[in-house]
Amino acid sequence: MPKKGFIFDLDGVIVDTAKYHYFAWKKLAESIGVSFTEEDNEHLKGVSRIKSLETILQWGNITLSDEDFQELITRKNEDYLSFVNTMTKAEILPEVPRVFQFLKEQNQPMALGSASKNAQSILKKVGLFESFQTIVDGTKVTKAKPDPEVFLKAAEGLQVAPKDCIVFEDALAGIQAANTAGMLSIGIGDAVILHEANYVFKDFTEISNEFLYKLISAS
Ligand code: BG6
Ligand code: MG
Repeated sequence: MPKKGFIFDLDGVIVDTAKYHYFAWKKLAESIGVSFTEEDNEHLKGVSRIKSLETILQWGNITLSDEDFQELITRKNEDYLSFVNTMTKAEILPEVPRVFQFLKEQNQPMALGSASKNAQSILKKVGLFESFQTIVDGTKVTKAKPDPEVFLKAAEGLQVAPKDCIVFEDALAGIQAANTAGMLSIGIGDAVILHEANYVFKDFTEISNEFLYKLISAS
């Protein structure tokens, strides 16, 4: 059986945390007088914590001292973690366990490729930490998606060539990162937003084991 490298984003792909990032950013943005819609939030998906706050400040034409910037970043993460702390396995997105089980049975190596610095604790919380041979998260990269660094590091960790890697992503920045890395990109979510992906599915309920098998077998 050929080996491919299966690389998964975390927030909005494996667990339903994208909504918590949204709630926390919305609360923060509105507290400093910047309006914040779900559409605005799309621009922050996959983007690091620091770059996200810089973007919100730019929208509001706001300049802050380093100290105030740090205070807001800390506040956002505390708000986010207050949601995350109540998380259980129930927040694993539909049919993710079936997909992981199938890939395991097929001896396919799996990696995490996420911008989040909270990734490892979230994976432990929902019992998925052991599913990955390699975890590349926000503590291990210097360049944010759409830079391909996170996925190239994941491929290196799996010892699989980038052209044999398949990336699952819910953010446009992540799809662009996968494409730039020379990997096959699979969007999870809205086909209009993720139109640059090689394939788009609403969620994993639409991804059959037959489809996964075809990805594994493709040369
Ligand atoms: C990404 C999310 O996975 O991680 C972004 O899509 C988030 O919304 C980024 O800003 C950084 O996450 P964290 O947990 O380190 O703030
Ligand atoms: Mg995501």
